[in-house]
Amino acid sequence: MPDNASKNTAPAVSVQGISKDFRVSSSEKPGFLRRFVPAPLRPAEKFRSLDNVSFGVSIGETLGIVGRNGSGKTTLLKIICGIMTPTQGEVRVRGRVSTLLDLGAGFAPEFTGLENAYTNGAFMGFSREKMDEKMPAILDFADIGEFIHRPVKTYSSGMYVRLAFAVAIHADPDVLVVDETLAVGDESFRRKCFARINQIRRNGGTVILVSHSLQNIVELCHTALWMERGKIILKGAPSFVVGEYERFANSSFENQKIILDRIADCAEPQVPAQGDRLVEELAGFHQPRVYETNGACILNPRIIGRDGRPVGNLIMGRDYFYTYDVRFDQDAKNVRFGMMVKTQSGLEAGGAVSHGAGDALEFVEKGALLRLRFAFKCQLTPNVYFINAGVQSVGDENSVYLHRIVDAVMFRVTPLPGLLATGIMDFGAHLKDGERVSVERVQKP
Ligand SMILES: Nc1ncnc2c1ncn2[C@@H]1O[C@H](COP(=O)(O)OP(=O)(O)OP(=O)(O)O)[C@@H](O)[C@H]1O
Ligand SMILES: [Mg+2]
Repeated sequence: MPDNASKNTAPAVSVQGISKDFRVSSSEKPGFLRRFVPAPLRPAEKFRSLDNVSFGVSIGETLGIVGRNGSGKTTLLKIICGIMTPTQGEVRVRGRVSTLLDLGAGFAPEFTGLENAYTNGAFMGFSREKMDEKMPAILDFADIGEFIHRPVKTYSSGMYVRLAFAVAIHADPDVLVVDETLAVGDESFRRKCFARINQIRRNGGTVILVSHSLQNIVELCHTALWMERGKIILKGAPSFVVGEYERFANSSFENQKIILDRIADCAEPQVPAQGDRLVEELAGFHQPRVYETNGACILNPRIIGRDGRPVGNLIMGRDYFYTYDVRFDQDAKNVRFGMMVKTQSGLEAGGAVSHGAGDALEFVEKGALLRLRFAFKCQLTPNVYFINAGVQSVGDENSVYLHRIVDAVMFRVTPLPGLLATGIMDFGAHLKDGERVSVERVQKP
């Protein structure tokens, strides 16, 4: 979860009215010219990949950027880092920028990893002595063993990234710019990278992170920005921006246009009216995001106690049911149902599906009304949480949502006196066979 302590209001990065045009040869487009005019004679066309983009990032802020492929995210980062110049507009960055964008772009293939690390450091303005000081940490982080003394052209792509990342991340950046590079490397290396990014954030560094992992954006960022066709669509609280972006990305082409128009018109997107009681019931507390129906409709999601009565305040350790009805407006195949509990910042705490892979409900006929009941034990620490509800038609390749409600139900977990659990999950560590945590002296001074 974002740690807001280090945030202040001075801008670390200021982007003002940035546009970027690329010249694209008409030969890349199908049509008359391509058929009848030789490539060199075809006129070049302009393609606008960024269109009048403005925003600021405060010192100590972590900004996450989301958007579909080709929406202009990488182009924007390249301009912020000074790797690319904008056609129009201005970017101001305070302090040293380190980028995990063009990882290892400056590496000379014939030189060893070590030589490249020194050269790269010099490039970033560090003296030989300063690099001598940093080198043990860099080598430890890269962890590529003896390969450090071999030419980088012999490296696997994973080794290359490890070294490049290690060098970039030890440059003590004031502003760190990361573009999805974390997708490369194995799981433990990725975790190490995130830990290091977190450390930079905690020390008051500013981070701009592009990621297709919406979970990462919600967990790591103070603010999120959604880009589409070179423009900023929304900027704000990560769970809100990511939620709207997800809704957009899961909609049909026509509805995507409607969503964008609505955001442009009112800046505050509204929940589509689905005519269900639950929206009215919960209005005022929170806003469930009801997706378009696609053959089924989720109705009346709620949490009930053992006695069948609806509850809003849950007690740790007790058993409950999460239940909702699903009305099928069309025949449906391979159907399964799901739930997901999320924290207020959008972090997925845990969920469940009704059927395992390969054993979904084979067929549900039009007009059927099914009632789902997920039994669960409340193992969450006191806070406010939300639960999603979803119905999917599961395919071999991909699955389609028949209906979905994000933040369908809001509930509270009530604090207990003397509670010792921390974090989100209560692992029961404080209670074993009825006993509290024990502290035992095993050696005397
Ligand atoms: N050098 C270039 N010449 C021509 N067009 C370019 C160039 N670089 C990017 N573009 C175009 O600009 C648009 C934005 O590209 P960009 O790489 O910034 O997208 P992105 O949001 O990073 O996408 P992804 O999620 O796939 O990484 C795309 O349509 C792309 O084709
Ligand atoms: Mg990109």
